[in-house]
Amino acid sequence: MTNQQAIKHLTQTAMVTALIIVLGFFPGIPVGFIPVPIILQNMGIFLAAELLGRKYGTMAVGLFLGLVALGLPLLSGGRGGAAVFLGPTGGYLVAWLLAPLLIGTLIKMTRATESGYWWLEVGIVWLAGILFIDVVGAGWLAIQSHMTLSAALLSNLAFIPGDLIKATLAVFIARRVRAVVDFGITTA
Ligand code: BTN
Repeated sequence: MTNQQAIKHLTQTAMVTALIIVLGFFPGIPVGFIPVPIILQNMGIFLAAELLGRKYGTMAVGLFLGLVALGLPLLSGGRGGAAVFLGPTGGYLVAWLLAPLLIGTLIKMTRATESGYWWLEVGIVWLAGILFIDVVGAGWLAIQSHMTLSAALLSNLAFIPGDLIKATLAVFIARRVRAVVDFGITTA
């Protein structure tokens, strides 16, 4: 990789981190029965995986979470600080870091970004973006909030309709963006 390519990838990575931050400006919607809001910010995680692939997608999300850990109020509702990782939403945050790796690996294995395979790409983001994140998130929520795992998993059903829309939109936005901007790193 040339220096110029490295600078381009890092710039694109920083831009996606900025996008995740901007999506956090939309306040979360409380669901009432668990201390986990419906948010728009997780669409930024789907976009990071979709646009940047596993390596740079993980870097973009890692940079975002690093800034949150340092105390910057970048999560929906203006929250931040290392303590959020031990709070009720900590499991989702850890899963956010792993999701681009999982999504990127599945995309690479199946060549789902090739034209005609949008349905496969959507399926991968549903599986590794929604199911994976919600199951890990619910697992930690159950421990942290002293709930049963089944109650935590059931409560996560509240997120599914919105998450399906966000994930599907992210795939279609990413496919359009990749058609005009050379990311060239979707399978890196
Ligand atoms: C935080 O801001 O502390 C993280 C919130 C995590 C919310 C999760 S992400 C998956 C699911 N979909 C949503 O809209 N909300 C939850």
